[in-house]
Amino acid sequence: MKNYIQTLPKAELHVHLEGTLEPELIFALAQRNGITLPYATPADVVAAYDFHDLPSFLKIYYAAMDVLRTEEDFYELTLAYFNRAAAQNVVYVEPFFDPQAHTSRGVAFETVIRGIRRAQDEAAARLGVESQLIMCFLRDLSAESAMAHLQMAEPWLDHFVGVGLDSDEKDNPPAKFAEVFARARALGLKLTMHCDVNQKDILDHIRECLDLIEVDRIDHGVNALEDEGLCDEIARRGLGLTVCPVSNRFVVQSLTGDEIRHMLARGMKATINSDDPAYFRAYLNENLEALVEEAGFTKAEILILTRNAFEVSWLPEARKQHWLERLAAMA
Ligand code: ADE
Ligand code: ZN
Repeated sequence: MKNYIQTLPKAELHVHLEGTLEPELIFALAQRNGITLPYATPADVVAAYDFHDLPSFLKIYYAAMDVLRTEEDFYELTLAYFNRAAAQNVVYVEPFFDPQAHTSRGVAFETVIRGIRRAQDEAAARLGVESQLIMCFLRDLSAESAMAHLQMAEPWLDHFVGVGLDSDEKDNPPAKFAEVFARARALGLKLTMHCDVNQKDILDHIRECLDLIEVDRIDHGVNALEDEGLCDEIARRGLGLTVCPVSNRFVVQSLTGDEIRHMLARGMKATINSDDPAYFRAYLNENLEALVEEAGFTKAEILILTRNAFEVSWLPEARKQHWLERLAAMA
C-alpha cells in the first residue's frame, strides 16, 4: 500500500505554505536574518509543539513566521515544500499563503509574492510540480484589512487562482467577509473558506459558506455530516471538501476516518490533505498512510480520494482530464 500511495500522481488542495516551515529552516533563516531564537536546536522547536486545539496551534504557527523576512526566505520556504511534494509524487498543488501575517510584521506584500512565485515557476520547470496560489485572509482580523489586501493583490491577479479564509474561527463567521469575497468573485477568483472541525457555530458557518458566500470549495467541513440538508446540498453542488486527517488528530484526537467514509458514501467529494505538514509532522503520503494503517482504508478508497482531489481542483479542464486519465490506468 505504501508503494501504491507513492506511485499515485496526487493533488494537494489544502496546504499552508507557512505551515511547511520545518524546524531546520527556522534555524537557518533565523541565523541568516540575525534573529535569536528561544531554542537551542531544531529538536527543541519540535518538543515545544504543544497544540491541542486551533488557538494553541495558531500561536506557535504565527510566532515561527517571524524568521520569514526576505524574498529569498519565501522562495526557499516554498521550494523546500515543492521538493517534498515532488518526492511524494504530488504533481499539482493549490497552496495557501497568509499575506496579512507578513505585512503586519513590516514585510511587503510584493516581497512575499515574488519569492513564492519564483519557487512556483522553478518547481514547474525543474520538478514537474504545477501549482496555483490561493491567498487567504485572516478571519480574526477586520474585513477592512482583508479588503485592503485584496486591493494590494489586484496588480498580481494573474498570480492567484482563488481566495480563502483561515485563522481563528471563533466568532469570525463567513458573513463578516461577504463583501470581500463578492469582490474577489467579481475579479474572477475562486472562493474557499475554512470550516474547521468542531468550532463554535460551525453548522451556521457551513450554511453561510453555501448560501451567502456561495463558495466553490470548503476547507475541512467535516461537521456538515451532522446536518442532512447540508450534506445534500454539498453533494448536489459537487463541492469539494479538503479534509486533513493528521491535522484533525491534533485538534479533535481523531483521524476522522469514519467521517471521511461517510462523506464518500453520501456522494460528497472528500479529498485528503496535509494542512500544516511541518507542524503535524505528516505530508500528503503520511496522511494517506495513516488512513490505511489506522483506519483500514483500502486501495479503492485511496484512489477515489485521490481522484476527487483532481476533480474538485481548479485546474484547466484539459489538465484535469490528463491526470484523471492517468489515475484511471492505476485502478
Ligand atoms: N492557518 C494555518 N492552518 C490553519 C488551520 N488548520 N485552520 C485555520 N487556520 C489555519
Ligand atoms: Zn488549513
